[in-house]
Amino acid sequence: KSYRVAILGATGAVGTELLELLESRNFPLADLKLLASERSAGKTLKFKGENLVIEAVSDRSFANVDIVLASAGGGTSKTWAGVAVDKGAVVIDNSSAFRMNPDVPLIVPEVNPQAAAEHKGIIANPNCTTILMTLAVWPLHQVKPVTRIVAATYQSASGAGAKAMEEVKIQSSAILQGQQPVAEVLPYPLAFNLFPHNSPMTDIGYCEEELKMVNETRKIFGSQDIRITATCVRVPVLRAHSEAINLEFDTPFSPDEARAILSNAPGVKLVEDWQKNYFPMPIEASGKDEVLVGRIRQDISHPCGLELWLCGDQIRKGAALNAIQIAELLVEKNLLQNG
Ligand code: A2P
Repeated sequence: KSYRVAILGATGAVGTELLELLESRNFPLADLKLLASERSAGKTLKFKGENLVIEAVSDRSFANVDIVLASAGGGTSKTWAGVAVDKGAVVIDNSSAFRMNPDVPLIVPEVNPQAAAEHKGIIANPNCTTILMTLAVWPLHQVKPVTRIVAATYQSASGAGAKAMEEVKIQSSAILQGQQPVAEVLPYPLAFNLFPHNSPMTDIGYCEEELKMVNETRKIFGSQDIRITATCVRVPVLRAHSEAINLEFDTPFSPDEARAILSNAPGVKLVEDWQKNYFPMPIEASGKDEVLVGRIRQDISHPCGLELWLCGDQIRKGAALNAIQIAELLVEKNLLQNG
């Protein structure tokens, strides 16, 4: 059996990766439709050696589509997800528009695949930093419940889209030529700099990105009582995010036990060479499917605390790959509207 798929936001950083993954994972496609804004209509993208023409999204776009992979921003998802569902598609949405909606499952396939069965047409792909963190924390949480998570993130430009990645390259080149960097996509120059995450600030002093890590992790884990706090920072890295994570349990969790668990955890690769001070790095996580985890150590400030460090490709497992895995899950469990 094969399926009719549409990518909404096909020209973006995540959209182009979705295209690549549909090809490399040999997703059973009956048809593939590329949708973006008017700006891209008529342009082409390569898929399996063929040039596919991009269409401007409209209410005619979703007839005869089984799965919509949406990655064109929250506003676009809000406009089109309902239309696509009414036409019989299941929408896997990469934006934050529906993630906290109680009718919308929020899924990391390695963590809560069972939630997919509850969908009513829309399934949300979690925030990238959240996805990466849950892959490392969930397997430990299964053995001993985590009671508190303190995370600090080092987030790449890709999270702000293809244009932000391009901007960092242009800024870097300008600085190397002795010129002033120009910031148009991101609020401040990122090249040779960093700044607290640029998502909107809330009235409790946390930016929205930080609250996504708190609220989405609780929803995915199905556990509202885990205490979580995060500080999110944008760094001049192109496409992989890094996270320093401090975990607290009710009883001590030995680093060796955590290492043994994580070396067998799905979607995770243990990367540690203590002699060489060699641990996960964003350049090595870029382009990989696995989240690289390492530097697992006892927290010397707390007997029941554990420290770890991870890097994961923001565009891949943080977005496009997770979405494709959700699509594969829907196919495997026969959870599409059209059966
Ligand atoms: P376009 O290239 O036509 O602007 P990124 O996350 O890398 O910034 O990419 C955003 C994606 O969302 C692009 O594919 C972009 O298409 C698409 N997009 C942005 N706004 C709209 C819109 N109003 N309708 C459809 N697609 C949109």
